[in-house]
Amino acid sequence: MAEYIHVSVAWPYANGDLHIGHLAGAYLPADIFARYHRLKGNHVLMVSGSDAHGTPITVQADKEGVLPRAVFERYHKRFLQTQKDIGISYDLFTHTDTDNHHRIAQDFFTRLLENKYLYRETQRQLYSVTERRFLPDRYVEGTCPICGYKEARGDQCDNCGNLLNATELIDPRSKTDGSTPEVRETEHYFLDLPAFTERLTAYLNHNKEHWRPNVINFARNFIEQGLQGRPITRDIEWGIPVPLPGWEQKRLYVWFEAVMGYFTASVEWAHNAGQPDAWKQWWYNPEAKIYNFIGKDNIPFHTIIWQAELLGVDGIYEDDPSRHLNLPFDVPANEFMNIEGAQFSKSRNWAVWLPDILTRYDPDPIRYYATAVMPETRDTDFTWEGFVSRNNEELVSWWGNLANRVLSFAYKHFDGAVPDPGALRPDDQALLEQVERGFTTVGDLLGGVKLRAALGEAMALAREVNGYLDRAPWFGVIKHDRQAAATTVYTALRAIDNLKVLLAPYLPHTCERLHQLLGYDSQLFGDQHIVTYQEGARPHDALTYDPTPATGRWTPSALPPDQKLRKPSPLFKKLDESVIEGERARLGK
Ligand code: MF3
Ligand code: ZN
Repeated sequence: MAEYIHVSVAWPYANGDLHIGHLAGAYLPADIFARYHRLKGNHVLMVSGSDAHGTPITVQADKEGVLPRAVFERYHKRFLQTQKDIGISYDLFTHTDTDNHHRIAQDFFTRLLENKYLYRETQRQLYSVTERRFLPDRYVEGTCPICGYKEARGDQCDNCGNLLNATELIDPRSKTDGSTPEVRETEHYFLDLPAFTERLTAYLNHNKEHWRPNVINFARNFIEQGLQGRPITRDIEWGIPVPLPGWEQKRLYVWFEAVMGYFTASVEWAHNAGQPDAWKQWWYNPEAKIYNFIGKDNIPFHTIIWQAELLGVDGIYEDDPSRHLNLPFDVPANEFMNIEGAQFSKSRNWAVWLPDILTRYDPDPIRYYATAVMPETRDTDFTWEGFVSRNNEELVSWWGNLANRVLSFAYKHFDGAVPDPGALRPDDQALLEQVERGFTTVGDLLGGVKLRAALGEAMALAREVNGYLDRAPWFGVIKHDRQAAATTVYTALRAIDNLKVLLAPYLPHTCERLHQLLGYDSQLFGDQHIVTYQEGARPHDALTYDPTPATGRWTPSALPPDQKLRKPSPLFKKLDESVIEGERARLGK
């Protein structure tokens, strides 16, 4: 029976372009996972959007001397283009400044308040007299009270690494105009996290078997340290208003509302699809599974805080108040990806920017390498040498040449059609059985979010086909034993047809093309999952697809003899070694 799978992807701050760390950390794993489940015929809803609010946006706006809205709108557009180019197949990629998101975030706030999970408390914060506003922590500098470093930030000291409160700084000054702020009292709403301790502990215990160890350990540790109330409002202008009279000057804290995006985007998608209640299939259906794809820096928000919000609004938008919104089934957080041995740094431009590399390389080789070194269990390293060698050895030599050699041979010697195999020999049978087992072995790994291992397994099968072709009669016998050659070529084509499906979640563009070359008229991901960007067609300038399930293509090939092939051409390009130095030279400039 088809399952309901929700693929929730971390919302990028719309304050700069997307880079390889974003891709390998969250978007690509989510996309691979979503495509796999679509091929299985499951009902997938994959959503995300631009995180429009918070100081990351206002800091960038101040730097450029423009309004926060201008920054967020610019990068939102670029996110859409980049993700379309690399083939991230969202059902909806929206943003947090939609009317829909504002309204639901305010409803969540109201509901939590009614359910007594919010309380008010007075805080002491730094206030700028010259700017007549409270200063966010990142807007203040001063001397670290712990190590004496003179340029400590209001949230953290970069010298000793300790987390700070801005009010603890000695000689604080505003980063905007250098003036000395004063301490003033301000009232905020807090989320009563301790009230959820028992339910969160039970939730983590329930999930401990299938969560990644680093994620479950982090979350449990967070609870064992003792949960504390968290302020969820801020003295800032850019953000979602607090829906209470007298609170017009304050906004909801960005993290409080951004995580709700998984839910609000589902509602928006359902509305766009003309089935306003369809989101309930993922959020109120006890059989549905929600997966949150994030980077490790986001773990507390996705294992504790979002869960508390979901538990605290039970029954929202549903007549039966005893029903519960679904909590995430899994939170497969990835670690970090370094670049050429050093940590990503925006300010030093130590980065691999996606819009830039997409002008020089095809999307599938980028996806391939980003998966091959995906930081699933520990930090990993992106190197240009690795990119070039794995492209050339694995994509071009093992896989691309395999497909191209066999297709070209069939096209030339068998009148551009799939040859009739006659009776299969034991060797042919054995190969096909081995490759077909991949639907289980590769599929189980994919379903368990072990994407690197699943790719390794699929590529190992491609090598098996290469080995088979070294043994079997085809090349040398075509002139005198046409039937033997036909049996071999048919078997290899059919193995390739299977591998095309196993690899499609990773390499959607080239597998789609291969599908055409093999003579199919349909599309691999179903007509509904072509990666298209429907500009202006939807309310919020979003990427949308119709998540009607693809028709269960995750099954062994039954390649029909005599099917007309299309004229073959190589799927991948060999890269010159000189690429390595050229790309390295761009880093840190
Ligand atoms: N914008 C955050 C970041 O880039 C991630 C937010 S994930 C969300 O780190 F779910 F909260 F939106
Ligand atoms: Zn310090």
